[in-house]
Amino acid sequence: MNAQTQSLSDRQAWKKLTAHYEAIRNLHMRQMFADDPQRGEQMSTEAVGLFLDYSKNRVTAETLKLLVELAEESGLRERIDAMFGGKKINLTEDRAVLHVALRAPRDAKIEVDGENVVPEVHAVLDRMTDFANRVRSGAWKGHTGKRIVNIVNIGIGGSDLGPVMAYEALKHYAQRDLTFRFVSNVDGTDFAEAVVDLDPEETLFIVASKTFTTLETMTNANTAREWSLAAFGGDTSSVAKHFVAVSTNAEQVTEFGIDTANMFGFWDWVGGRYSMDSSIGLSTMLAIGPEGFLEMLAGFHEMDEHFRTAPFEQNLPVLMGLLSIWYNDFFGAETVAVLPYDQYLKRFPAYLQQLSMESNGKYITVDGKRVDYATGPILFGEPGTNGQHSFYQLIHQGTRLIPCDFIAFGKSLNPLGRHHDMLQANVFAQAEALAFGKTAEEVKAEGTADWLVPHRVFEGNRPSNVLLAESLTPALLGKLVALYEHSVFTQGIIWNIDSFDQWGVELGKKLAQRIIPELESSEQPELEHDSSTNNLIRIYRKMKGMP
Ligand code: F6P
Repeated sequence: MNAQTQSLSDRQAWKKLTAHYEAIRNLHMRQMFADDPQRGEQMSTEAVGLFLDYSKNRVTAETLKLLVELAEESGLRERIDAMFGGKKINLTEDRAVLHVALRAPRDAKIEVDGENVVPEVHAVLDRMTDFANRVRSGAWKGHTGKRIVNIVNIGIGGSDLGPVMAYEALKHYAQRDLTFRFVSNVDGTDFAEAVVDLDPEETLFIVASKTFTTLETMTNANTAREWSLAAFGGDTSSVAKHFVAVSTNAEQVTEFGIDTANMFGFWDWVGGRYSMDSSIGLSTMLAIGPEGFLEMLAGFHEMDEHFRTAPFEQNLPVLMGLLSIWYNDFFGAETVAVLPYDQYLKRFPAYLQQLSMESNGKYITVDGKRVDYATGPILFGEPGTNGQHSFYQLIHQGTRLIPCDFIAFGKSLNPLGRHHDMLQANVFAQAEALAFGKTAEEVKAEGTADWLVPHRVFEGNRPSNVLLAESLTPALLGKLVALYEHSVFTQGIIWNIDSFDQWGVELGKKLAQRIIPELESSEQPELEHDSSTNNLIRIYRKMKGMP
């Protein structure tokens, strides 16, 4: 029986892990560290400039051995090879999954349906480079001959979260005389506020949409077109100077009125949430320049190669994916917190939410059966130290187990006095506090009144990973994103789900299309929803003063 058809709970390693969990579930990290003075050094590994300390997890050497066995039994090695080999592993959409080709070097060869896709990838990168250079240097002029100084990316989901996260993450490297804005929400406020202080003559819109049919993006793009045209007396020849498109859908782009000469393409084998390194990253390239963008791609590629070739025991994405499985499926943890201690990474958790939850939020296996185990955890996070003064209370003393990933840097990009040591001291302190806590004896020894002692005890044994890198560069960002992409992949393979489709977002979209005319019609519509939806629609119409 192959890994795809055998139920996860029937796998030998799974059964062994179930028994092993019973044996070690109450083992405290205090004990594990006391038993092995080398644990910190031993349960850590470094690859491509990223140091991972996973010693503060509720695992023994045996746990890790069994988790690696589970990965092997689940066919992870073959699935990695299948992905990198261009096989159509996105089964429900019958597509290859080749975001790794987006960062492959020019001379690499990756085939889909017998055709090497790498030359096309580099042809688009070359066009993006040429365009970015012209905008950044001021050679690309607006309709009235003014230089472009404002760039507005219009997109949503993968066509927004990656661009905005990367822009924020790499702002330090950005050309500062250019202003970047990101519009995603169909709420008109998003567009209105984004352009409130912009001059249309100096503004370029990037309409970023894989399908070029997404309601929010097309609505915002049309509003942008009207806003822009209004400044040029309706002269549609201005569109060519103020709008470019990033899409896989040339037909829809043309229909919208953007010349395909101003379109940067990508391919159906790039999932939306895996697309920030495709032409969807055009805004990133405009901000940090082609060289920086290529550095970022090289970082992605280094992590890809590590994931593809390193033994599972030292493989960062595999280890992180397996640890996530351990807490999710054995400890029953329902969430994961990602806590970057770098202000530039403030949008990283939001980016990871789509990457992880749209990929692995599935209850059906690739062969159409309902899972009898938990899949994708709920991911959340905020940059440190802000989160410490908000939700960390629950992580330390709440009733739930919340595995944390701390992300830390050796050097600050803005070294100001003692700020950076203070910031990073908090990473080490939080991980330490979570793991070891504070016993009642320790609290009492501080002279705490008896009645207060229980409130001030930290039971500890709360797991975390610490990822430490030298500094936040474009290459490092590529490595970090690829690390999480492949960790998500590892988890999806073990859960035997298709991490690359997103059927779960369709129903709501369809129902909204049916409701829009019911909200807009001047006549009282005949409502045939449930009583709650009907009532809400009636009240909404009344609020708008409609019958
Ligand atoms: O609705 C979900 C989704 O399809 C995401 O997967 C995707 O990133 C987003 O919408 C935007 O899609 P598009 O780039 O086609 O506009």
